[in-house]
Amino acid sequence: MNRIEEIKKRKDGLDVLADIYRYSRLGQKTISPDDEPLFRWYGIYTQRPAEDGFFMVRIRIPGGDLTPVQLRAIAALADEHGRGLADVTVRQNIQLHWVRIESIADILDRLREVGLSTTEACGDCVRNIINCPVSGVDENELYDTGAILRQVNDFFVNNRDYSNLPRKFKIAITGCAVRCVYPEINDVGIFAVREEGRTLFRARVGGGLSTTPRFSKDLGVLVEPEEIVDLCGAVASVFRDEGDRGNRRRARLKFLVEKWEVPRFLAEVEARLGRRLRRARALDAQPVVERDRSHMGIHRQREAGLYYAGVSMLGGRTSGEQLRRLAALAEEHGSGRARTTNTQNVVLLDIGEQNLAALRSGLKAAGFDCDPSWSRKAIIACTGIQFCKLAIAETKNRAAVLNDRLEKAIDMDDQVRISVTGCPNSCGQHHICDVGLEGSVTTIDGIKRETFQVFLGGGVGAHESFGRRIGVRVPSEELAELLARLFARYKEGRIGLETFQEFCLRHSDGELARYMTSLCLAAD
Ligand code: HEM
Ligand code: SF4
Repeated sequence: MNRIEEIKKRKDGLDVLADIYRYSRLGQKTISPDDEPLFRWYGIYTQRPAEDGFFMVRIRIPGGDLTPVQLRAIAALADEHGRGLADVTVRQNIQLHWVRIESIADILDRLREVGLSTTEACGDCVRNIINCPVSGVDENELYDTGAILRQVNDFFVNNRDYSNLPRKFKIAITGCAVRCVYPEINDVGIFAVREEGRTLFRARVGGGLSTTPRFSKDLGVLVEPEEIVDLCGAVASVFRDEGDRGNRRRARLKFLVEKWEVPRFLAEVEARLGRRLRRARALDAQPVVERDRSHMGIHRQREAGLYYAGVSMLGGRTSGEQLRRLAALAEEHGSGRARTTNTQNVVLLDIGEQNLAALRSGLKAAGFDCDPSWSRKAIIACTGIQFCKLAIAETKNRAAVLNDRLEKAIDMDDQVRISVTGCPNSCGQHHICDVGLEGSVTTIDGIKRETFQVFLGGGVGAHESFGRRIGVRVPSEELAELLARLFARYKEGRIGLETFQEFCLRHSDGELARYMTSLCLAAD
């Protein structure tokens, strides 16, 4: 049994809350090394370098749903306890940094006052459940999954039957027509489909990235909205009881699904449900071919006269001040409702048509962009070396520089995705981006330099494939120039309406490496 399993056996992660409050009163030096790993059950994680005693705090935001009061509360906490910084994450959470243990009690209390929490935002439990950020308002959506998401969230959070899983467990639920929540890479991805003349839901299980990426597998069943809570519970209970608790590197659900394969896994789920699920005619759903799943920019809502505005945050990096301004703009020009997105951005909802011009200029004045360029829409970035103990490279600032240079250098009509990720763990989902940049260090002329290994051709939808490591490492400063060359080569050489992903799939690693020029270094 590994160390974390031993710790969890002695104490459930949910039982560490009283201790966290005690440590917050008594200070850093009093923290027991056996309790610290359990802090994650309350979204608290040590920040790099561990010796400095700072923490990151991940605020759980189911479906990304935020009110102006909540936005202002997060902004105030970021300012008072986190040096003004706030990061929107790829699971619609907001993460604070630079937090001292002494601040934690105040943070948890004030979040609770506004209906937010950090409970089970990290740890071996059911992480934040993600939903389409325009659920309930999107003209094209198949089903409004807002209420289902809240039910599933309420079922799992603080539920001791599911608070000690072998590893983290990620659920995405969506009625979005473009499946923007990426059911393909979640442990459970539930998505609406039009099949047999009705809107029903399909479920994929066992997806996940990290160093051994796997796409989830379709269970080949069709479920009613009312069945979703039970289905998620049944899948999580199979994982809890059958997942590998011996080796954390093999503990995720994806390994169990791979070992058992779908028929056996489904039979076990049905045994727990006590009923047989309805089979779909085809094992797999029709893929979504739309390349842009971001919901960025201004779009008409279902209700006449109302619009939503997808606002780019570029790598999710924002500040207390910016969140406050966003809250004010959301209230002034819309209903106040805002949602974080899984592309590290924010959407403001219910903007009256007559307010659009004022909102646009208000956003611009506050430093936001609601008509983002292709490159702003493309880029996401993981936490990286600034705060992450496992990082090899800087990410958020690299992403900002990359964007500035790329949007000037070239215009792309195909909506690619680019991820700047600080190590192979893939928190920035680089395996499923057209261009995945994975941080590394390379000795060049005797000097150690930060470089990025290039992965190309990743994506979901029409071509579900993980990016191929093409065998080059690019020094950070040269990323924009070399990527611009590759994109230019794509624009010249594409066949018909070929997407950038298809272009990468059609060319060999060597060809793609050559297109980026000889400035690159051969990878090990
Ligand atoms: C064994 C180590 C780790 C693995 C395998 C891992 C893997 C991942 C993966 C695959 C995601 C993608 C999320 C998704 O879309 O489902 C993710 C999210 C994330 N990871 Fe990690 N990670 C690790 C450690 C860390 C560390 C040390 C940090 C510290 C900075 C970190 C920060 C994040 C953040 C901020 C997210 C965004 C998602 C959220 O809000 O839950 N990860 N991680
Ligand atoms: S991908 Fe690596 S560097 Fe980036 S946040 Fe995850 S663990 Fe840290």
